[in-house]
Parts: sequence; structure tokens; C-alpha cells
Amino acid sequence: MVGLLRFCLWQQAQYPLAVSSVRASRKAVLLGGAYLPPTHPLFLNWKFRNVQWMVTTTRRRRRVRESRCGTVKEEEEEDSSSTAGVMSASPIQLLLVSDLDSTMVDHTDPYHTALLRFNNLWAAEYAHNSLLVYSTGRSPHKYEELHQQAPLLTPSIGIFSVGTEILYGSSLEPDQGWVSLLDDGWDRGVALKELQRFTNLRMQDVSEQRPHKISCQVDSKDAQDIMKKLSERLQDCGLKVKIVFSHGIDLDVLPQRAGKGEALAYLLQKMRSKGQIPQNTLVCGDSGNDIELFLVEGVRGVIVGNALPELVEWYKEHGKNKDKIFQATERCASGILQSLQHFSLGPHLSPRDRMGLNGIDSPILSSESRNGRPAMHGCAQREVVEFNTLFEKWINAEVPNNAETFQRLTRVIARGSTMVYPWGVEQSLVDSVSSAQPKYGIMKDNKLRTWIDCIQEQKLADEIFLVTWHSWQISAGGEKKGYFATAILRTKEGMPNGVEWVRVHETARK
Ligand code: GLC
Ligand code: MG
Repeated sequence: MVGLLRFCLWQQAQYPLAVSSVRASRKAVLLGGAYLPPTHPLFLNWKFRNVQWMVTTTRRRRRVRESRCGTVKEEEEEDSSSTAGVMSASPIQLLLVSDLDSTMVDHTDPYHTALLRFNNLWAAEYAHNSLLVYSTGRSPHKYEELHQQAPLLTPSIGIFSVGTEILYGSSLEPDQGWVSLLDDGWDRGVALKELQRFTNLRMQDVSEQRPHKISCQVDSKDAQDIMKKLSERLQDCGLKVKIVFSHGIDLDVLPQRAGKGEALAYLLQKMRSKGQIPQNTLVCGDSGNDIELFLVEGVRGVIVGNALPELVEWYKEHGKNKDKIFQATERCASGILQSLQHFSLGPHLSPRDRMGLNGIDSPILSSESRNGRPAMHGCAQREVVEFNTLFEKWINAEVPNNAETFQRLTRVIARGSTMVYPWGVEQSLVDSVSSAQPKYGIMKDNKLRTWIDCIQEQKLADEIFLVTWHSWQISAGGEKKGYFATAILRTKEGMPNGVEWVRVHETARK
């Protein structure tokens, strides 16, 4: 929320705000970024419950939590295992495994409209009980490059380099078990030497040559012939390899056990062994190296509307009788959203889609229908996302300009609640929010776009939720800005998501 408030305040007053409004209590205690008096019931009840988190090592989990959540500290036992395990107290609703280029990211859309819709939906409806996995041909290095260019959410797990590297969390810790498995029957030096005998193969960038992946390019007319000959040669050398052709040009030579499909099967097996079976797994792709994903047992798959002929042809020949594969009509991330609806995997309308000039909520999931229900796990998180989205739409003039719409923002703020700005100023939250009412449409021409990453909700005590997130914003011609935020929300009947805002604390980041 607050980045937007801050944005409005910058527009209005050029910070800092009147320092007289600072009322920082010396007795207050920093709890997850929010100051509370030590006598507050939260401290008496201090316990993280319902902690749903990612697939990672316990040791790594602690580090990730600290870096992601700023000041939230936890005491956890070290897990002796150094490999991945599902650290989740609640079941995984959806394991969404998506390719990046031309599946999650639409390179033809400089505004990343579909991806922002996906991000918005994921943060609001799935992040609290589902896992996001990227499965890409890119090396971690090229993935980082893409992450700088496109508003990609931080995944729980990254499968890189065409299924040869499985890395966990934002710190990208490698799965050593997977590395050892791939060593079997693989000798990179020998494979490279044989490959270099083919003069019509051109090596790709150095960054794409990985311990278990040799990548080159070849004209598509020569591809089949080369693949056949290369495969025979490598076999004669005693190597067990897999050759994957994608995008009508890329040729990857990998260990036989590698590949996007094998890596996913390995992950699923690992989760199963920890008793964490995702209720649904959805794979998403657009090209040749994604074919394997659709062959993993028990998964559903979406071929996005802009898929390449190599995948569409495969689907026509081998996939047609598989009712578990859906061919979307929409491009990239919009195709993924379509498939959520097609397979009834959960909500498919993001707050961004639900709020528009014809109103701020859809009849299907109206706020009224949620009114009066007790706040459940995920409600506070959804409130954070909806609030941010409405704020963005307000200043972009993408919702109706009337008091009723604006009230959706003010009526969820608890009496006496406060927010702490990055520069340390503390202000009444109602005042902060209200000051944005006259700012309707100030970003109409530059269109502010925001996305919320790494959102987490924890129930601290009965009726009290801590939500932490990273927020990013960008506008036409503007710089990308980010901040960490922490908020305390509490149950209140009659609110759109059954909760009201009590406290917000924001910290700027580069
Ligand atoms: C990505 C990788 C490249 C690979 C291609 C197809 O573009 O960067 O090395 O060949 O995917 O898998
Ligand atoms: Mg792709």
C-alpha cells in the first residue's frame, strides 16, 4: 500500500513530512517491522503458526526468511539433510511449473500486462498455499538478466539450464543430489570434443555452457540429421546423453537423466518422500524443450496460445488424446490464467481484472460475499494485494472516480492506526490514505504499475496477522523503485477480506 502512499506524498509535499508528526515511542518494540508496546498481547502470544514455506533446506530457510522478511527472526531446528524438503505445515494447493521466455514473459509486450495480471493473482490468491517454480532453458546468469528486465516474481524453486540445475529460494542454493545423479554416464569433455567435429554447429554464449549442458545453434534444416549422427557418436563413446532441439535453432546436449521433465519428476518424488504431495501440478510451456514437462505423470499442462510449431506439432501427434493438456488461445501468462479456469484449479481473476471502470469488484467474487466471514489464512494477504491494486488504479484513473470507490480504501483502516515511512516519520494511516483522494488520475498518462513479491502472511495470535512483502513500482519513463513492507492486520467483521489495517512499516530498497 504504502509505496503508493509515499508516491502520492512525494508528489504533494516533497518529503520529509512535518517532523512534528513523529511520535516514535521509545518503549515500543520492533516486531516484524511494526512497533508495538511490549505489553501488547502479541508478545505474550509470540509464536509463528501456520508457517507455509518453500521447498528448501531448513538451514537455507532460516537465511532466506531473514533476508526476505527484514526483521522477522525465527528459532528453528537445523535439518541434518542438506537437500530439499518441503517445509510446509499446510498442504500445497498448486505447484505451478512454468517456462519463462514466451510463456511467463511475453517479449512482444514492453508493459508486461499479462505477467502483471499473473503476479497480482498469484500474490492475492495463491502465494499463501502454493509454490511457484520456473523451469527455463536459461542459465542462472541469463535468468538474472531477464529478472532485471521483466517483473518476474521470485520463485520458490528454479529449474535452470534445461533441467540440469535445480536451485532453491532467492539465494539459489543448488540441489546437490540432482548434480550427483546427472554425473552418471556423463563426461563433458568427451561430449564437447565430439560435438566440435560438426562444423555446422555453432556454440552459444559462454554463460550457457554449463557443467551438465553443452549448447549450440544449428540451422533447422540440418537439425534432425545432426541429432541422429551426434547421438550415435556419443553413444559409441559410452556416454548416456539426451539431445534437445528448441526454438527451431537451439540444440542442447545434456546427460540422459536431465531435462525439464526429469527434473520435475525428481522434485515431485522428493516432495512425495517428505509427505508433501501437491494437490495439483500445472506445467506451462511454449517450445520444444517444454515437451518433457507435459509427459510427467499426474500433471496438467497448458500450451500457451503463442506456442511454437515444434510444440504444437508434437501436441497434434502425441498429445491430443491427453485430456490433461490444454491449448490456450491467449498468449503467455494470459494463457496460464485461462488454464487455471479451464482445469478449475482455483481463482483465475486477479484483483487487477476484478477492479475496473465498471466497478471495483466482480459479481462472482464480490466483497459482499466475503463480508462477515471469519478471516482465514490468506485473507490478510489478499487484502494487502487488493488494497495496493485499487490504489494503483485510483491514481491511474482506472476505477470510477467516486466516494464509494475511495471508501474501499479508508474503511479498512482501523481507528488510531499508524504507518512508519522509510525516513522514520510516523503518521496516522487514515490521514495518509485520505490524502490520496484528490490524487485521482495523477498517473493517468504515465501509468504506474506495481507488483508484490515474496508476500507472506503469518497468524501471530488470534485475530492478528503479520504480512510482509516486497513491493515494486514502475511508470512510463520512470525508474523501477522498490520497498519492503510489513503490516499488522486484525480480524474485523464486515470488511471486504474480514480484516482491517492496524500498522504499516515501510523500508526503501534499491
Ligand atoms: C535458452 C538457453 C539456451 C538453450 C535454449 C533452449 O535460450 O539460454 O542455452 O539452448 O534455452 O533450451
Ligand atoms: Mg519458452
